[in-house]
Amino acid sequence: AVATVALCTLAYLFGSVLFALPVCRLWKLPDPRALGSGNPGATNVYRNGGWAPALVTLALDAFKGWLPVWIAHVAGLSVMVQAMVALCAVTGHMIPLFYRFKGGKGVATALGAGLALAPVTTLIMAAIWAGVMWRWRISALASLVAIAFGPLISALIEPETLPLFGLLTILIVVRHRNNLIRLAQGREAGF
Ligand code: G3P
Repeated sequence: AVATVALCTLAYLFGSVLFALPVCRLWKLPDPRALGSGNPGATNVYRNGGWAPALVTLALDAFKGWLPVWIAHVAGLSVMVQAMVALCAVTGHMIPLFYRFKGGKGVATALGAGLALAPVTTLIMAAIWAGVMWRWRISALASLVAIAFGPLISALIEPETLPLFGLLTILIVVRHRNNLIRLAQGREAGF
């Protein structure tokens, strides 16, 4: 129990580091919270600074989801505990302690956590993301379609992780509510 609480706390705190912000400072780009969608994530860093800082943001935000789950896995903690650690990391990104609880949408962090806990499910979801992105060039649409398939795919392939994907789907869809409104109105920005 002590290990679980400690890892969940660490996952939340590490998740609370919004890597888009230091990456944009490093690249001398404006704060992504003030431009484009206002989201501190890889997509919005791409809008303001192109591929390189966007990919670094994606990698670091994914890493902070992957690392604590991997530690829980190596420590021999149960899948349920690993899933809790994953949710803490994603929650950290969405409601970060260090930025007045105003965070991002959690897609990259969920990607990292998912790769550590349910790699096959997550890779299939990543392929869906890439397919939608290739066809429609709208990041939020790709994220929403991919995450919508998460529960079904995990149920078929890595069923012990279904509760995690169910909760991730709810959290990520809720965080995309403004994107959903824009998509419905046909106003969502393309890539
Ligand atoms: O992962 C975030 C993406 O789905 C949407 O980002 O900046 O277009 O709102 P953004």
